[in-house]
Amino acid sequence: MKICFIGTGYVGLVSGVLFADFGNKVICVDNDKAKIDKLKKGIIPIFEPGLDELVLRNYKSKRLLFTTNISKAIKDSDIVFIAVGTPTAKDGVSADLKNVYSVAKIISKNINKYKIVVTKSTVPVCTGDEVEKIIKKNNPVSKFDVVSNPEFLREGEAIRDFRYPDRIVIGSNNLKKTKSVLEKLYAPIVKKGAKFISTTRRSSELIKYAANAFLATKITFINEIANLCEEVGSDVEDIAIGIGTDARIGSRFLRAGPAYGGSCFPKDTKALTKIGNKFRTNMSVVKSVINSNEQRKSLLADKILKILGNPKNKKVGFLGVTFKANTDDMRDTQCLKIFPKLLKKGVKISYYDPTGEKKELKKINYKNNPTEILTNNDLVVIHTEWDEFRSLDFKMVKSKKLKIFDMRNLYQPKNFSNKNITYYSIGRPFNEKKA
Ligand code: UGA
Repeated sequence: MKICFIGTGYVGLVSGVLFADFGNKVICVDNDKAKIDKLKKGIIPIFEPGLDELVLRNYKSKRLLFTTNISKAIKDSDIVFIAVGTPTAKDGVSADLKNVYSVAKIISKNINKYKIVVTKSTVPVCTGDEVEKIIKKNNPVSKFDVVSNPEFLREGEAIRDFRYPDRIVIGSNNLKKTKSVLEKLYAPIVKKGAKFISTTRRSSELIKYAANAFLATKITFINEIANLCEEVGSDVEDIAIGIGTDARIGSRFLRAGPAYGGSCFPKDTKALTKIGNKFRTNMSVVKSVINSNEQRKSLLADKILKILGNPKNKKVGFLGVTFKANTDDMRDTQCLKIFPKLLKKGVKISYYDPTGEKKELKKINYKNNPTEILTNNDLVVIHTEWDEFRSLDFKMVKSKKLKIFDMRNLYQPKNFSNKNITYYSIGRPFNEKKA
């Protein structure tokens, strides 16, 4: 099957490369020439463990092509995936769809035979209707169907998530014609156990937002329970196990932490409230999730200040600054909201991140390794759950007192044998835990 992905960002590149790995001929298109040139040389624009090797292998085998020639890519393909970005618009709430609509226009001019146009970008309900309208308007005689096929990949786990997803969702108003084609494309994944769910286009679009909003709700719920645990002296880890083993609740996405961040949950929850407004439906749960998540960052900054006592000129070192581990993505990362509050109070911040120095943190001191963070600060904040922070060498902290605030609960308070360390974590009694 010949397919093309328009947009070689996170979604387009990962999906395109993996479809090629399943033996399809895939053309990955982008209007950023420098990016395409780099990809041809095997230089990957995003940080995703294992992706570079897959790109090289499939590019060498010629199953995977990179090009800026969008017209030819569309003409040469049976299935055209739209995988361009849909960032938050200027109003700060809705999804900006201008990239999707401009691609739809280009597609309309290059339909030379029947095509299935698939929106993989995260788009609000009814966007497929609009894409269909644009193509029809610009090319009334063209033969095509617009299908929604949302992605559920997590950054840092995208390859595994693509190969072994829980489900594939496709939404089409012409399932008779499109379902079998997409079933064939996804057959290698479905054979390994993924459910293939087909529905209407609008339902499929809504599934994506509902899924992200629900996961964000689950995280926010456990974060609020964690706050309560700190007050009543319970351990949120026990609560998560205690409720998560109920199959109706499920154990995943119940890790309390420093609020959800990243390029998806913050953007998609906001966009869902906007969709609700458009259809005169109050998404009150989602709105309250957004508020609670926003407040959490401020609450954590306050906790840091409380731990420090008098914060002026105190030194705080952050381990990890991205919104989660295994990514270099700084979009909506929690610390970007925490840092200004600390700086305002005269705190001196430094950080180390396994993916290197960040352009977003120009005024913050970067350190080259965790040791420099552990040995030069009054307080160390474990902000991101990288594996390399799971077995830190605390024995080196000998000469002075150090406080640790573990925002990911990577450690157990009882694990601390070094008397110079005072350990704080999330959702456990917010008292000093001296070993
Ligand atoms: C999320 C979804 O998990 C994917 O299914 C979806 O495809 C993707 O958004 C998207 O819409 O493109 P992602 O943002 O990459 O994926 O990362 P997650 O692993 O979901 O984490 C999001 C945030 O929630 C992170 O800040 C993470 O630290 C936090 N989180 C996650 C928790 O605090 N606790 C948890 O138990 C899980």
